[in-house]
Amino acid sequence: MNILALLQSRFAAALEGIAPDPAACLPMIRSAQDPKFGDYQANFAMSLGKQLGKSPRDVAQSVVDRLKIDDLCDAPEVAGPGFINLRLRNDWLAGEVSRAADDARVGVESASPPRKVVIDYSGPNVAKPMHVGHLRSSVIGAALYHILKFLGHDVRSDNHIGDWGTQFGMIIYGFKHFLDPAAYERDPVAELARLYRLVNQLGDFHEAKGALANLARQAEQQAADLKTQEAKLDPKDKNTGKTLKKLREDLKGSQEELASTKRKVAAVEADADLLKVASAHPQIARLARDETAKLHAGDAENNQLWQQFIPQCLTALQGMYDRLGISFDMTLGESFYNPFLAETVASLRQKGLAVESDGAQVVFLEGHRAPFIVQKADGAYTYATTDLATVKYRLDQFGAEEILYVVDTRQGEHFEMLFKTCGRWGLAPVRLKHVNFGTVLGKDGRPYKTRSGDTVGLESLLDEAVEEALRVVEANEAFKKEKGADDLLDDAEMRRIAGIVGIGGVKYADLRISRDSDYTFDLKTMLAKEGDTATYMQYAFARTRGILRKAGVASDSLQGTPVVVGHPAERALAVAILRLSETLEGVVQDYRPNVLTSYLFGLASAFSSFYDACEVAKEPDPAIRASRLRLTDLTGRVIRIGLELLGIQTIDRM
Ligand code: ARG
Repeated sequence: MNILALLQSRFAAALEGIAPDPAACLPMIRSAQDPKFGDYQANFAMSLGKQLGKSPRDVAQSVVDRLKIDDLCDAPEVAGPGFINLRLRNDWLAGEVSRAADDARVGVESASPPRKVVIDYSGPNVAKPMHVGHLRSSVIGAALYHILKFLGHDVRSDNHIGDWGTQFGMIIYGFKHFLDPAAYERDPVAELARLYRLVNQLGDFHEAKGALANLARQAEQQAADLKTQEAKLDPKDKNTGKTLKKLREDLKGSQEELASTKRKVAAVEADADLLKVASAHPQIARLARDETAKLHAGDAENNQLWQQFIPQCLTALQGMYDRLGISFDMTLGESFYNPFLAETVASLRQKGLAVESDGAQVVFLEGHRAPFIVQKADGAYTYATTDLATVKYRLDQFGAEEILYVVDTRQGEHFEMLFKTCGRWGLAPVRLKHVNFGTVLGKDGRPYKTRSGDTVGLESLLDEAVEEALRVVEANEAFKKEKGADDLLDDAEMRRIAGIVGIGGVKYADLRISRDSDYTFDLKTMLAKEGDTATYMQYAFARTRGILRKAGVASDSLQGTPVVVGHPAERALAVAILRLSETLEGVVQDYRPNVLTSYLFGLASAFSSFYDACEVAKEPDPAIRASRLRLTDLTGRVIRIGLELLGIQTIDRM
């Protein structure tokens, strides 16, 4: 039962004939922030009054007079400047909660009609180490996938892995010149990653060396300009400050670039062996690009190497996904679209969208300085070409009505251009949406790095999370032991729980942040027992199980028990439970999993207040006792479903 949707439909009927556009008023019906205003509140009368030139209170009253709602709410109340306060009837709540308790879907109806959605998430570049940004895509994407599915939509997840990009040219070049066969034998993926980093570093070194003189000259010139202007400009002129500020900023930018360029050069020059290798490969960047071009052109040797690398990379990736409990309906990487790229460009040309510019094929788009390049002058296709071919494939093969891209905000412009190009390409109508997310930061406020300076490898990050979780679980057991508890966990069980708590904690911390914000990665706060964490939710769930266990009651035996809604804390818990349905709809409105995490946190808090205020197992009245045990059980089920939708496991006993 979606209470919000039900209230909205009642209001839509009442607004007919009063409001010029009833639908525009409906988003202003929301759950009330403060229980003293009831359970829900409608706030449209203020803007509607203005629109109609009437007093908002009169408008609110005339809507209330026409509102048919007495089967589910007490008499609505018009308050303040024209708020309409709604309070659900206790008997209605009791009936709905009982119905939810008897339903495996706890009262969440299936969408009708279901939408056909493709969701594109994770998408790591294989043969490079997967990093924390791909973790964020994987976690948010998987949560949205499960929620859409639970809501009854026809969803397909697709892992658009980067298995055809320029990194392969670098790896192939590295493989041909710098391979350590023993290391490759031991751990092929680690060796490929080393080769990638090496070739990348050597290419950067030569580029940096070549740029050094110019950068130094530029910085010198800017410093001189600044000096001249400082002497020349009139300090009393109000524009002087601005001009000097701009010059100082430019100078600072150049100096920083110069410094980072020098660091790249110094890193190689400080290592005599590395410098020797660098000197022997002065054209490395171009030669690596040539290897990519040969691979794409079908060169036998490079294709054979690629065929050899891919399965190993995929196995390593799979290990990571298994650990995270993440899977996909399909993994059609960039390479899959190679056969479609030529026809994609041809079609864009034929439609007059792609034109030649400096030997490349590009699409010019309004509002963008650079064009969307679909084929480079050397004939190579791009990330853009692949993504265009992918959209077409998803429409042709699955009849997708909606495609979601769970990708870093920094690719925003790419997706804007992709969507604009698709809009003009003449494809079937489809809703394309970049579900963007911010950067994971370290405590220093910069993108998260390990001590060694690499963007953190995911594996070590998860290991750390599980270790930290083990400390939390051990501390909890020590506390229990001190208090004389007899249900202590053995070591193996503690380790199993630490795995679930550690991984769950990392996922939850990621999901609870509004996805377009950056956030700071900090294991200690992520795994805290109190606060908005997975650990807190997992304990809350385990507590509901513990209460039933101690009362000697099995969930099944509660089937059919009528729920009584009496005490205010009991009532608040019932309302919280019933808001699951509108919460899930709220998540998919703008694809925000944090709508679900904050719901769960609120539910757990409502449960905590209920348990503090009401006797459960010790309640003397048998009907109320059974009802409260049922509410406890139902709360646990809703928490478990919510966490599972977020990809987080629960444990019965912690
Ligand atoms: N491989 C890309 C990266 O790591 C992400 C792919 C996202 N999906 C897409 N269809 N472009 O940046």
